[in-house]
Amino acid sequence: MSLPPGFIDELRDRTSIAQVVGRKLSWDARKSNPGKGDYWSPCPFHAEKTASFHVDDQKGFFYCFGCHAKGNVYSFIQETENVNFMEAVEILAREAGMPMPAQDPRAQEKADQRTVLVDIMERAVQFYRLQLRTNAASAARDYLEKRGLPETTLEQFQIGYADNNRNGLFQHLTGKGVSSDDIVEAGLAIKPDDGGNPFDRFRNRIMFPIRDARGRCTAFGGRAMDANQPAKYLNSPETPLFDKGRSLYNHQPAREAAGKVQSLIVAEGYMDVIALSQAGFKHAVAPLGTAITADQLQLMWRITPEPIIALDGDKAGLRAAMRLIDIALPLLEAGKSLRFCILPEGQDPDDLIKASGAKAMTALLDTAQPMVKLLWQRETEGHVFDSPERRAALDASLRTALNSIQDRSIKTHYGQIIKDYRFELFTQKRPQQAWGNKNWRNKAPEKATEGLKSSLLAQSVQGDVLLREAVILLAAILHPKAALANETALEKCHINTHDFKEIQNALLANLHEDLSDDNAPDDLAKKMADQLGYNPVDRLTELKAVRSHPYLRIDADMTQVRRTLDEELTKHAAILGARREMQEAEEELSGMADESTTWRIQQATEARNKATRTDYGNEDSSGDNSENLSQGLQKMLDDQIWVKKKP
Ligand code: UTP
Ligand code: MN
Repeated sequence: MSLPPGFIDELRDRTSIAQVVGRKLSWDARKSNPGKGDYWSPCPFHAEKTASFHVDDQKGFFYCFGCHAKGNVYSFIQETENVNFMEAVEILAREAGMPMPAQDPRAQEKADQRTVLVDIMERAVQFYRLQLRTNAASAARDYLEKRGLPETTLEQFQIGYADNNRNGLFQHLTGKGVSSDDIVEAGLAIKPDDGGNPFDRFRNRIMFPIRDARGRCTAFGGRAMDANQPAKYLNSPETPLFDKGRSLYNHQPAREAAGKVQSLIVAEGYMDVIALSQAGFKHAVAPLGTAITADQLQLMWRITPEPIIALDGDKAGLRAAMRLIDIALPLLEAGKSLRFCILPEGQDPDDLIKASGAKAMTALLDTAQPMVKLLWQRETEGHVFDSPERRAALDASLRTALNSIQDRSIKTHYGQIIKDYRFELFTQKRPQQAWGNKNWRNKAPEKATEGLKSSLLAQSVQGDVLLREAVILLAAILHPKAALANETALEKCHINTHDFKEIQNALLANLHEDLSDDNAPDDLAKKMADQLGYNPVDRLTELKAVRSHPYLRIDADMTQVRRTLDEELTKHAAILGARREMQEAEEELSGMADESTTWRIQQATEARNKATRTDYGNEDSSGDNSENLSQGLQKMLDDQIWVKKKP
């Protein structure tokens, strides 16, 4: 619907934001200065006791110095009334006595339809709760009891049961006069394609109502009673009420509790939230069967500045944590951060509380790690940094991560902390292990000997390696036909950069003959994105140099893309070949090393490290000023070989 020009502005001028906001909260009398149109109160968007929420009545906007929520009178109404922009305009126009130019029948219809659906959902909640008391639910009740959920908890979370009836709920609702289409639209029943009668979506499942921030039931999660069901948990589909990426389980109660304890726990599943709540951690939420989204992070930050992500102590949990880092980094701001609490292997919060009690949970939460630590672990754990190339590759991937932080100040702090970790890792442990002990080679973990064994002698080309890898992968995605032609080379192509390996795997896994038509790049990228959980093209083009590569633009000429792929693959292979030769030379050298050569190499390594040390937190630092020094180093080592060969 379009409004006449100036309508929005006029309405805003006629409306006092202080008056509108003032109806919802009480001003801090001491801090506010009504004469100047200056108002303060505790923030309605996050839990706090102090008054950091500021309203400037003259300028017509609000800003919270705590959670940085900001906006004008329209966005305030949108947020607090959970309505869209047009609906907010309508509300305010009515109050200001300004007639709306012309009713938008569709917007009104939509709002009405939502009210209808909410009503249906509430009826379903009640129906499922009643079902839980019937004979048919005796197994479900036993199960819930076995899982340690007493009556009070069932009451609190309004847990119910959907029996095995094909259309029990559907019949119940239509019997009450609810229309069949509305039941289907609410996601409660499924309409078969053959035009037959709709049937219940949830059958033989324990039902968990999912409520929005205002406490309205928008969806259900259903846990299968039958272990043979393909989906252990089945959630409502997306409906006009339910956007799963923007919802949190237990949102409203957790927000209230978080205000008291100034903390928020984010667990993986419904049962975890319920177990946490029972154990006294009422400030717990969970995403709804998907990885945590950026929208959900923003919702959490509205509640508290530093939510604690408590993830299952299994591979999937760890992977989820690692992926969350990438989502969170660009969104970080002062007062918006995360901590991570990784549970013991094989346990989720529910298991832990059952096995070891609430105290153990508290103790674990106290050990939650800041995100920067997890980032560091992600980039370093299981890797060995015994060569300049490996260190350089580490620097490169750290720099990519740091560069994704938008907030300058946070970026600087991350940079400093990473620098400290790095100093610790390189300066104290590695040189000692690597060179102080003649058998260092045997001591290095398996990984060191896999793939390319890099060497001290090889030239440091960190930036080039990273870039070339990105270019190769991107060109392959853009031109699947060329990628297919180079399949073997791509398979053999040694990718050094940690998460580019993942992209390489996804590429190879999704590269098929049938991808060779014109729409293929989109297809391939999409398939890869499904597997990776992120768009590989976005990830690869995070590097400015890749983004601005003349032959890899969106509208690139395919011949050029193909040529780029061929050339870069060849170069990459050539460099690796040269390095292997160098490495053999080094092995020969170190096999003969005596004390003096060891000392000289150590000196050289230190000099090299100094030269390649990277200036983190500084956007354009390339850390690549090692060229002169590495020539010097080369010469030094040449001399070494010569000295050794002479006798
Ligand atoms: P888990 O498999 O860890 O379940 O999935 P859980 O919460 O520990 O459940 P219990 O203890 O076996 O009852 C974690 C979350 O992932 C989503 C659900 O939201 C679940 O709570 N999920 C899991 C699904 O959406 N579908 C599934 O098939 C499985
Ligand atoms: Mn569980």
